[in-house]
Amino acid sequence: MGNKFVMVGGGSTQSPGILEVLRKRAKELNLSDLVLYDIDEERVSLLGQYTKMYYKELGSKVNVTYTTNVDEALKGADFLFMQIRPGLNKQRAIDEKICLNNGVVGQETCGLGGFSFAMRVIPAVLEIVKKVKEVCPKAWILNYTNPEAILSEAIYREFPDANVLCICDMPISIEGAIAKYFNKEHRDLTFKYFGLNHFGWWTNVYDENGFDLLPQLREDVLSGKIDTLLMSNDETVGDQYWVKTYKQMISLFKRFPEYFPNCYLQYYLTPDEMVAHDDVSFTRGDYVMQGREKRIYDECRRVISEGSAKDSSLHAGVHGNYIVDIAYAIIHNTRERFIVNKKNHGVISNFDPEAVVEIPAYIGSMGAETINIGEIPTFQKGLMEMQKAYEKMTVDAALSGSYQKALEAVMLNKTIPNYTVGKKVLDELYAANKGLWTELK
Ligand code: G6P
Ligand code: MN
Repeated sequence: MGNKFVMVGGGSTQSPGILEVLRKRAKELNLSDLVLYDIDEERVSLLGQYTKMYYKELGSKVNVTYTTNVDEALKGADFLFMQIRPGLNKQRAIDEKICLNNGVVGQETCGLGGFSFAMRVIPAVLEIVKKVKEVCPKAWILNYTNPEAILSEAIYREFPDANVLCICDMPISIEGAIAKYFNKEHRDLTFKYFGLNHFGWWTNVYDENGFDLLPQLREDVLSGKIDTLLMSNDETVGDQYWVKTYKQMISLFKRFPEYFPNCYLQYYLTPDEMVAHDDVSFTRGDYVMQGREKRIYDECRRVISEGSAKDSSLHAGVHGNYIVDIAYAIIHNTRERFIVNKKNHGVISNFDPEAVVEIPAYIGSMGAETINIGEIPTFQKGLMEMQKAYEKMTVDAALSGSYQKALEAVMLNKTIPNYTVGKKVLDELYAANKGLWTELK
């Protein structure tokens, strides 16, 4: 018997890259059954029909199906790759605009865009994890769903024993760019990293001989030799958002040269610069809808109407490979090193042991065994403590439906300057998300 993989949110625009990696690496994963599951009937049927044809015409033996029935999807599942987006990119763009119109960061995971996304997604994800515990309790859930920082806090709080790993492709993408800068392969370097999801730092980058390359990178940035890093991730090359983001990441490193920052820190350390450059009439959500979304579903329609996928091709990139690498590590007990989101439990010795943090870990058949970090400096610790309090209060708000808790969460978000702005953005987001958020009282 082979392994059954389920893509939860299988109709998503993030699915094709993963589907291509699964096809290419089916044998090494012992993958026999692949189910695309989604609540969006139209999208899952488009991607489902496409994938069936695409796999078949390329000679794949994997049995591909698609469904909107969760019980059918989960029955006998071994792995779930989860990436869902209640409200779709349409709601993402609405949230971004509300925030930007009030002069604060408008982004799907950082600032109040992340808060709003969390209010939509937490109940939906917890529902699925609960279902997995009933239907296929041995299955592994690898979660890419955003906002991962808040979601991982909710999942591990409600289901401390579940087989869930919460992951993000940003650290591996940035590490790939650093490796490329030094003309090295990612696997030859050892990265030391700590923080929260979309909120972390690299302290060291060791080469094969145990020599730390980070001081060299710091020197090259401080001396003005480089002002950006070339992307390792060809899914994002040429995308102006990412071009700007990589530049801003280097500019952050120049201003805070102690550790190398995750690029998402741009929204917390330089929110004014982000807001000033954002176009409220055409946000990232709009860009994704008009670009990736349109392209993918149009291509599915074309292939389905022509009855053949022979002129179609999918791209296997970092996003797809990272999640599959982790599944591979679990299946084959490789104990390879990755970065994951897990409860701290002393890894960062001077940080809340119960908080979920983003840290390195060895992954094998029993899951992730985290790697010691030790003490972190006051600057990063202070930032993380406030951010963690915000994340926890957001989970409290989503689970309790308390307006007061929601307001307190909002006030803990560093992108919010005061009560007037915080309450106004919260109320506008709530009104725009009627029926999508937990009801607040
Ligand atoms: C990176 C982050 C993800 C995020 C994605 C957004 O990969 O790690 O968490 O979802 O970027 O990409 P998009 O093209 O949707 O703006
Ligand atoms: Mn991410």
